[in-house]
Amino acid sequence: MAKTDKKFIEEKVSEIKELVGIEKVVSAMSGGVDSAAATVLAHKAVGNNLSVFFIDTGFMRQDEYENVVNSMKDYNIKINLIDVKEEFFSALKGISDPEEKRKAFRNTFYSVFGNILKQEKASYLVQGTIKADVIETKAGVKTQHNVLEQIGINPESYGLKIIEPLKELYKDDVRNVAKELGLQKTIYERMPFPGPGLSIRVIGEATKERIGIVRKATYIVEQELKDLRPFQAFAVLMNDKATGIKNNERNYGNIIIIRSVKSKNAMTAEPTEVPFDILQKLGKRITSEMPEVVRVAYEITSKPPATIEYE
Ligand code: XMP
Repeated sequence: MAKTDKKFIEEKVSEIKELVGIEKVVSAMSGGVDSAAATVLAHKAVGNNLSVFFIDTGFMRQDEYENVVNSMKDYNIKINLIDVKEEFFSALKGISDPEEKRKAFRNTFYSVFGNILKQEKASYLVQGTIKADVIETKAGVKTQHNVLEQIGINPESYGLKIIEPLKELYKDDVRNVAKELGLQKTIYERMPFPGPGLSIRVIGEATKERIGIVRKATYIVEQELKDLRPFQAFAVLMNDKATGIKNNERNYGNIIIIRSVKSKNAMTAEPTEVPFDILQKLGKRITSEMPEVVRVAYEITSKPPATIEYE
């Protein structure tokens, strides 16, 4: 395997080099393995002609910018932080439909990038699209935020040319490539995280307040389940409320669902068999550390018929 990964890396680096020539390239890192591997490949190909950004959409996990900076320190890659939280929250304001949310996210995402490329006088955006993203979007399962050409949108309409060095690979191949590229274990083993981030993990409108709730619950879920090494584990905030008791008073509060799955490539998935004492601890921690949550439930559906994410 290692040999083919090495060959893949050599091929992609020279392809990018040839395509780009002396022009400038921009990449965005989200904290995940796909964007990290795509960024390192582009860096190997064009060196200082690559500028790397962390776009704070407002929908990222806790401490993500620090994680990204840390993951790139061995490569001497500087991460530019762009805070566009307000733009994203206002683009998603009042939108509850899942596909409309994804589209609004995508539109804002690529508009932000169009501006960054202009500002950097760059010609290309490198991104970590992988095979499952393309297949699911084409199949109409959902609109992945990072898939454009494959559904007939010309990236040039956003002023972009896109390089997707990983689009032929599934997740486990990407992890092998990332390992071969020398990325840290915490990166190449990291759980997938969707591009539209926490926005698709609150059912209904993605307000700042609701995103804050799911971010904190996600942090707790990741902490408590990491030793079980799930393919993905996270929290979802329901749109309904339910009755509970807080401080001896009736409290009509939020409901958090915990989703944890085992999977090989995200095309199918099974719920993780989480020991009951861990589930109980999760329920206790979330309701005691988060006064706005009164109920926590564990989800037991496979993919299919469910998907991994809720939207
Ligand atoms: P589903 O929910 O379809 O997800 O079972 C399959 C895998 O894809 C991730 N996912 C996304 N990744 N942009 C991404 O980059 C997206 O829009 C997106 N939607 C889902 C999901 O987390 C899972 O790993």
